[in-house]
Amino acid sequence: MDDLRQKYLSAIAEAADEDALEAIRVAAVGKKGEVALKMRELGKMTPDERKTVGPKLNALKDEINAALAAKKAALADAALDERLRGEWLDVTLPARPRPRGTVHPVSQVTEEVAAIFADLGFSVAEGPQIETDWYNFDALNIPPHHPARQEFDTFYMHREAGDNRAPHVLRTHTSPVQIRAMEKTGAPIRVIAPGRVYRSDYDQTHTPMFHQVEGLAIDRDISMANLKWVLEEFCRAYFEVDHVELRFRASHFPFTEPSAEVDLRCSWEGGQLKVGEGDDWMEILGSGMVHPRVLKAAGVDPDRWQGFAFGMGVDRLAMLKYGIPDLRAFFDSDLRWLRHYGFGALQVPTLHGGLSG
Ligand code: PHE
Repeated sequence: MDDLRQKYLSAIAEAADEDALEAIRVAAVGKKGEVALKMRELGKMTPDERKTVGPKLNALKDEINAALAAKKAALADAALDERLRGEWLDVTLPARPRPRGTVHPVSQVTEEVAAIFADLGFSVAEGPQIETDWYNFDALNIPPHHPARQEFDTFYMHREAGDNRAPHVLRTHTSPVQIRAMEKTGAPIRVIAPGRVYRSDYDQTHTPMFHQVEGLAIDRDISMANLKWVLEEFCRAYFEVDHVELRFRASHFPFTEPSAEVDLRCSWEGGQLKVGEGDDWMEILGSGMVHPRVLKAAGVDPDRWQGFAFGMGVDRLAMLKYGIPDLRAFFDSDLRWLRHYGFGALQVPTLHGGLSG
């Protein structure tokens, strides 16, 4: 009996898992296990022998069962410990890794501009970057041999030999969206149209692709005074200053009459731009009253409707506000530049939350 005890207790101690333990249980105390077989032998014994051997066998059975139960519990504990070690999680870590991407200044400024004009009742319109000659020029009162066509340094799309249709162009300004928007909704209308434009030009302040935002407001009696107020309001909000001063300089665009270029009073002390004070003037946009021929081309009756339009450079607005010196770097995709000048994805510009955060 001591041999049995020895054999099974050490087997239990060495059992590696629950399956091994179950096999030991069956072999030792199962119905046909060794202890049960020994119990059967009791019948052949004398009553005296039975009295001493019986209780001992029962005690052995109990001892083995107790050892099995203890080992089973120990194996379960070990398995749980192992799982806890494997599934360990540091709940004090930040919930999300810091986002590595940034919002490009052009995107950020476009959002800022859209937020300001949305507050003034302008919605956002769009048009294609590959534009027909007609929308980009003719409809804007720039007929085929008008000298203004040369001034734009236009990119023309490839045309198959023998195809005599007017070529498509990469739009040279956002003004064609004026036509598209008026065709779509007619008058009255108040829209801005931000987007990419293209001209064959490249230096520190010019890239072949850049961004403009167009503005258009057409109603019964809109005048230059409304234009002036809207632009002042825009500049105050955009540059985040209480006071701005604009200067309207007579100019010429085929699609507006009269036309004006608009300068903003500023100072450049120590290379630092201050808006609203100083003796410098900085040109920020072109504008004017929409030419009757442009209204007509877009299906709007110039005897009943009138209004203003303006166009400004988004990239330039970004350079001015955020002190970015070279336009070309905007489009180099240099990660160091993007991390330095870029904006966090959660810095959404709103008028109530602050435009630049
Ligand atoms: N389209 C003009 C440009 O690109 C800007 C402009 C827009 C001027 C609307 C007047 C009115 O230079």
